[in-house]
Amino acid sequence: MDKKVTVIGAGNVGATAAQRLAEKELCDVVLVDIIEGVPQGKALDLSEAAPIEKHDAHLTGTNGYDASAGSNIVIITAGIARKPGMSRDDLISTNAGIVKSVTQEAAKRSPEAVLIIVSNPLDAMCHVAFETSGFAKERIIGMAGVLDSARFRAFIAMELNVSVENTHAFVLGGHGDTMVPLPRYSSVAGIPITELLSQDRIEALVKRTRSGGAEIVGLLKTGSAYYAPASAAVEMAESILKDKKKILPCAAYLEGEYGIHDLFIGVPVKLGAKGVEEVIQITLTDEEKAALQKSAAAVEELKAVLKKLV
Ligand code: NAI
Ligand code: 2OP
Repeated sequence: MDKKVTVIGAGNVGATAAQRLAEKELCDVVLVDIIEGVPQGKALDLSEAAPIEKHDAHLTGTNGYDASAGSNIVIITAGIARKPGMSRDDLISTNAGIVKSVTQEAAKRSPEAVLIIVSNPLDAMCHVAFETSGFAKERIIGMAGVLDSARFRAFIAMELNVSVENTHAFVLGGHGDTMVPLPRYSSVAGIPITELLSQDRIEALVKRTRSGGAEIVGLLKTGSAYYAPASAAVEMAESILKDKKKILPCAAYLEGEYGIHDLFIGVPVKLGAKGVEEVIQITLTDEEKAALQKSAAAVEELKAVLKKLV
């Protein structure tokens, strides 16, 4: 393939993302992990599936970074995942150190890459990658809004018994309890859900979306969601690799947009070959603005915690 994506962390999200990237034949994939044998074993296993899945993407597993050199995109999933009873924010001190060290290694070898951050707490980890890499803000993008919006879309489709393909949804804000699902901008075949569902049902779907991650953790008990998170990261990577310019909700560095300064938080962005090519500013009601500001305040708190750690 003429494109290369490095996925750091060959655990649940990383390995599934590698599988989806290869099976869509988007790029060659380098899978990196600290555990000896795991990235090598998973890359080999995926390569042995290639004849059946009919793709010619090359997969390399490694415990080092040399094979990652010249990557177009680096997806960072390294770190620990939450267990029942833990919030995403409980992961901050461990994952800040991990994200800092893997970003240093990856950025050195792929100075032109776009970094897609997945490790939690997501918005705070974007700050770590931004400060560590020294990359332009356009090339640091956090994955959360695509996942949270996909969850909202899935719940809307289940509720109305319609194809998921007919659904559209926007979830903005930080990737935590304060995230901001926007029913006014969520629709089925172009019809806003506010015209299709009662206020009570919309509120129930919004609540389920906000606790979508916890719902999966509660069921799995040993880790967190990975199929949908991997799909979300790969949708972002595809838009960048193919310069599709899709508008997707992603964590981007704001410098005044939405009245928010110097903070990574989820907003609609246009994703193309250069990374974030535009932050799309949609009109919000006073209530929606207040919810976004509250979410920004929660991310600010984590940013302050980071200052003491990194
Ligand atoms: P996992 O535990 O299955 O995999 C994490 C992998 O990272 C492990 O294989 C581990 O060995 C590796 N790792 C740890 N330190 C490393 C280092 N220094 N260098 C290279 N590899 C290292 O966890 P999972 O489920 O894949 O989740 C990964 C992260 O993504 C977690 O922090 C999780 O909370 C987050 N996440 C974020 C989502 C989002 O919406 N932003 C969605 C799902 C997960
Ligand atoms: C999720 O939302 C754990 O952040 C991850 O599933």
